[in-house]
Amino acid sequence: MSPQSPFASTSTPTVAARPRVFSGIQPSGELHIGNYLGAVRTWRQQIEENKEDTLFCVVDAHAITVPYEAAELRRRIDGFAIDLIACGVDPDKTTLFVQSDVREHTELAWYLSSVTPMGDLHRMTQFKEKGEGKDFVSSALFTYPVLMSADILLYKATVVPVGEDQIQHLELARETSRRFNHRFGEVFPEPKPRLSTTPRVMGLDGDSKMSKSKGNTISLFEPEESFWGKLRTAYTDPQRLQLSDPGRPEICNIYTMHKAVSPKTTQDEVVANCTGAAWGCVDCKKVLFENFNRELIPLRRKREALSLPQVREALGDGAAKARRIAQATMKEVRERMGLGSLASSTVG
Ligand code: TYM
Repeated sequence: MSPQSPFASTSTPTVAARPRVFSGIQPSGELHIGNYLGAVRTWRQQIEENKEDTLFCVVDAHAITVPYEAAELRRRIDGFAIDLIACGVDPDKTTLFVQSDVREHTELAWYLSSVTPMGDLHRMTQFKEKGEGKDFVSSALFTYPVLMSADILLYKATVVPVGEDQIQHLELARETSRRFNHRFGEVFPEPKPRLSTTPRVMGLDGDSKMSKSKGNTISLFEPEESFWGKLRTAYTDPQRLQLSDPGRPEICNIYTMHKAVSPKTTQDEVVANCTGAAWGCVDCKKVLFENFNRELIPLRRKREALSLPQVREALGDGAAKARRIAQATMKEVRERMGLGSLASSTVG
C-alpha cells in the first residue's frame, strides 16, 4: 500500500500554460454552411493565429442521444473528420479527435451529473425542441448538456467557439464548474463562448436556424449544382413580392451570408441594390454563390486530396494527445471527489 492516503491529497490543480480552446461538432447529417460560418471557420482562424492551445472534437457520443444506425454513425465520423480537415482544422497544428476514443468524457459526465440539478436540465431549450412530439426520448438526450460540460471541463478550456444556439449549454457548463469547485475545491476554470460574426445562420425555409435535424440546410460540400439549386430557392424578405419592392437586407438571411463571405464592397452593393430595388433576389443570390465558390473551391480541392487511412491515423494521434490531458484532470477529479481505491488513484 502506498504510504499516502488518497483522501489527504495535496495535489495542486493542473493549469494550462496557454489559454485553452475546445469545441465540438456532432457527426450527424452533413456539415452545413451554418456550422461552417457559425463555428468551424472560427476554429480555423484560431488554429492559424496560434495564440491558444486548441482541441476540436467529433462528438460521436452526443450523436447517440437520438435514434441512429451504427454503420451510418461510423461513416459520418470519418466524413466529418475529413470535412473538418478540409476546412483547415489541420491535425498537424491542432488536436483533432473523436470523443469516444477518450473514455474520460463519459466518466466525467457521470461525476458532474452529481452536481447538476435536474431543474437546470429541464430548462434547456434544445432538449425541448429535440424531444417534442417524439415517441422515444432517451434519458441521454436529457443529460446531453452534462456530457457537453464534461467535454469542455475535462480540458480546462476557457474559450469555446460555438454558434448562438449553444450559449445556454455554455452557461450550464460555467455553472457546473462553479458548483464543482464550491463543493470539492478549485479544479475547473469557467469556460466562455466565443461567437463568430455569423452566430446564427437561418435555414433555407426562413422559419428557424439552419439545422441538421430540420432538413433546411445547404451542405458545405454539396456539389455546386445542388448548392445553387438550394440557394436559389432560399427564403428572403417576405415583403419583397415584386422586383420594384425595396428589400430589407437587415432581416434577410442572404445578406447575413454576404456579410460572412463577400468582400465589403460587395456587401455595400447588396445594400444599395436591394434597398433601391435594382437587383432581384436571384441576382443577389448569384453574387453570393460566386463568393461562396471563391471560398469553397480550395476547401473542395483539399478534401479530394485527403485519404481515409491518413485521416484515421491523425485521429488516433489526436486522441492520444487529448487523453494525456484528460487523464491528468480525471486523476485530480477522482482525488477531490474521494473516488477510487488507493491503487487506482496512483494510475492515470
Ligand atoms: P452541432 O453539431 O449542432 O453544431 C456544431 C457547431 O455549429 C454551430 N451551428 C451554427 N452556427 C450558426 N448558425 C447555425 N445555423 C448553426 N447550426 C449549428 C453550433 O452552434 C456549434 O458550435 N452540442 C454541440 C456539440 C458539442 C459541443 C461540445 C460544442 C458537444 N460538446 C463542447 C462545444 C463544446 C452541437 O450539437 O453542435
